[in-house]
Amino acid sequence: MFADQFMLDIKHIREQFPITQKTFNVYGNDTPKNLIYFDHGASTHPPQPVLNKYIDFLKNYYANVHRGKHFLSLISSELFDNVYNTIFDFIKGDKELNSIILTSNTTTALDIAASVMRDYEGVTLVSLMEHHSNDLPHRCRSEVIHYGLNPDGSIDMDDLLLKLQSNKVKLVAVTGASNVTGFMPDIHMIAGMAHAHGAKILVDGAQLLAHRKIDVKPNSDDDHIDFIAAAGHKAYAPFGSAFLFGPKDIFDEAEPYIPGGGTVVYVTEDDVYYSDSPDRHQGGTPNIGGAIALAESLKFLSNVGMENIREHEVELTAYALKRLKEVQDLKVLGNIKAEQRLGVVSFNVGDLDNNLVSMVLNYESAIATRNGCFCAHPYLHELLELGDITELKAKLIRGEEVDMPGAVRLTIGIFNTAEEIDALIDALKIISLHQWKADYNQFYAAQICKEIAINLL
Ligand code: ALA
Repeated sequence: MFADQFMLDIKHIREQFPITQKTFNVYGNDTPKNLIYFDHGASTHPPQPVLNKYIDFLKNYYANVHRGKHFLSLISSELFDNVYNTIFDFIKGDKELNSIILTSNTTTALDIAASVMRDYEGVTLVSLMEHHSNDLPHRCRSEVIHYGLNPDGSIDMDDLLLKLQSNKVKLVAVTGASNVTGFMPDIHMIAGMAHAHGAKILVDGAQLLAHRKIDVKPNSDDDHIDFIAAAGHKAYAPFGSAFLFGPKDIFDEAEPYIPGGGTVVYVTEDDVYYSDSPDRHQGGTPNIGGAIALAESLKFLSNVGMENIREHEVELTAYALKRLKEVQDLKVLGNIKAEQRLGVVSFNVGDLDNNLVSMVLNYESAIATRNGCFCAHPYLHELLELGDITELKAKLIRGEEVDMPGAVRLTIGIFNTAEEIDALIDALKIISLHQWKADYNQFYAAQICKEIAINLL
């Protein structure tokens, strides 16, 4: 039995998230079932206070920033300018020595980091567990060397050290928490190692932001974080708003990321004088409402308390890991303990196709999971022990249909409960016995989605 003894008032939390009231008709059930949302790793839903703030802005203060002396523009500018302070406070960043660039998503934020570091001498070390967004931008802008993994799916710190010692390294890119196994590397230890070898660290904080307290530490600390990127849509804010925190001097020396409106002090026919950061890298009208909502979601998380959230989620994760063992032939990817990970658990059930498992969970139990390769192909390659994939690659390049290897992913968020984990386990047990009810050919899946979508029009 699960002991629900959290600091978190889960009933009150759920009341604040309208999505927890959502129901769907499912196959083989006369009455609709409550949605069980286990896809927080992809995107999270805004709670009512964040929705209120967002809608209030759109209804009452919608105006462009820094471009007018009328009431709406002045209020909008004030709200927008305060977003930076809220993010600085949330991650404990030093406002004098650093800047925050507001962007549309984590991928753009990580690409800005790769871009401002492009002209520095040295290679970028990238872990093999990164999301493609913290790997591919570096490959486009620098020489990249990957550092490896241990068999349990954690980072091989010896390999990282070796590569720091044997190369001139300018940047170490690492995730704050994997979107596949939830593994949380010791980012401060890695920062210390990077700094000792003259390199900087870039942390992909996309998964981390809403689930564990972040403290980038003062720039004078050996183990401080130089750059960190994260997005609102994984932290209970709407889509389209994200940020990159990093050293002001590096941002101010770099070429503007997108030159254009809002990035300059003056322009003549022959001459441009660019602003310092953050404006320097924020060409064009920003997502003002999204940024204001992002700040509101960080305030919401702070009010609930990041320690309370972590405690709730680590207990649920431990419970899920324990109960998943009851499902016949279910194999969790990696072997990371609950304390070392976020509530992110990827798994396969025997040799069942991950698409099928995810579909049965959805269509028969209204349980939302993600499945596939999670934009982390090199990590999946290792975790699934795929070995030589020459033939698979050739087929993909020829455009042939292939059964892509992958997994099903459960991601836990602030409003999930032990009862929802129980429902998942019950559903997985049925799947493991191949006792699903519907016929899951392509036609059925496409048809039911179409019916639901048409009803929504
Ligand atoms: N990066 C997001 C995920 O892992 C979309 O699902």
